[in-house]
Amino acid sequence: MRLLVTGAAGFIGSEISTLARAAGHEVVGLDRVPGVDVVADVRDAAALDRVLSGVDAVCHQAAMVGLGVDLQDLPEYAGCNDLGTAVLLAAMARHGVTRLVLAGSMVVYGDGAYTCAEHGAVRAGVRPDADLAAGDFEPTCPRCGRPLAHGTVDEDDRLDPRSVYAATKLAQEHLAAAWAHAAGGRCASLRYHNVYGPGMPRDTPYAGVAAIFRSAAARGLAPRVFEDGGQLRDFIHVRDVAAANLAALSWLDTPDAVPFRAFNVATGRPRTILDLAATLAAVMDAPEPVVTGQFRAGDVRHILASPDRARRELGFTAGITFEEGVAEFAAVPA
Ligand SMILES: NC(=O)c1ccc[n+]([C@@H]2O[C@H](COP(=O)([O-])OP(=O)(O)OC[C@H]3O[C@@H](n4cnc5c(N)ncnc54)[C@H](O)[C@@H]3O)[C@@H](O)[C@H]2O)c1
Ligand SMILES: [Zn+2]
Repeated sequence: MRLLVTGAAGFIGSEISTLARAAGHEVVGLDRVPGVDVVADVRDAAALDRVLSGVDAVCHQAAMVGLGVDLQDLPEYAGCNDLGTAVLLAAMARHGVTRLVLAGSMVVYGDGAYTCAEHGAVRAGVRPDADLAAGDFEPTCPRCGRPLAHGTVDEDDRLDPRSVYAATKLAQEHLAAAWAHAAGGRCASLRYHNVYGPGMPRDTPYAGVAAIFRSAAARGLAPRVFEDGGQLRDFIHVRDVAAANLAALSWLDTPDAVPFRAFNVATGRPRTILDLAATLAAVMDAPEPVVTGQFRAGDVRHILASPDRARRELGFTAGITFEEGVAEFAAVPA
């Protein structure tokens, strides 16, 4: 099929383009930075009109990523991510393009899923600075203060975007769902967990932790780990994320496809941040990680996802193990 990939110059969009071409699809890559077929902003309706004719499906990856720390960036986040998505959806409606895979994000959940022995499923509140400073990193029950057990989030869990970026990622889903219902379209929103791999953005304040640890190790420095390193995350390799996009494209053509459906894209095999740092340091012959006890306000302790829906409905499972993926990532020149 003929596929438009937005954000095709980026970390994930470029990998999707490569995999889709290898699978025999005709790919048109669009990005606002060079290195793609069409250099244009997703908010440029005229440019979209030029590229969309004859397109069968869109993989919409273009977005401003990161935490959206500075409120002065709010208009640019909303502009790229939400206005950009709206302009794209309107153009798809003009051209009768009805299939969309959206780059969603785990940030829409806000925090992981926790249970209290007494109160059952609860949302962990923001951890008080005093607890963190005392080295008490595990969240406690907001009702009784008891320690919580962590579980996995699934797609029907409550959504709780806690940053500007998270709010714009959730708004993308709402816009896509509204478009799908009104235009007779179908959208799979793939909520990626912690994506890592070659080409990962680095040396920016928003870089993923794997890139930060690797930069340190490459300079012969010990990776510095926040809290006690016990934070659990689901690290998924970028090639697996690209494979999930192709699986979602196929699903859009099946009778099972509904106007809008969200899917976690995760391995289901969580690792601690310390595990990641130690594995990278070992593979790169760098000093062992230093656990600093430092913390950042607003960080969540554990966020784990159930990969079951994507496995059942898309037939997607992540194939690259943590050990293979991290070793390969370490070997790629930074
Ligand atoms: N990397 C992760 O761990 C992760 C996790 C969850 C979701 N995501 C989502 O995956 C998608 C891809 O992220 P990535 O990690 O590849 O980031 P990236 O920054 O490498 O890629 C994003 C690309 O989008 C382009 N872009 C941004 N605004 C644009 C605009 N207005 N017009 C045209 N192009 C624009 C950028 O130039 C960039 O090339 C994003 O939608 C992001 O929200 C990423
Ligand atoms: Zn309780």
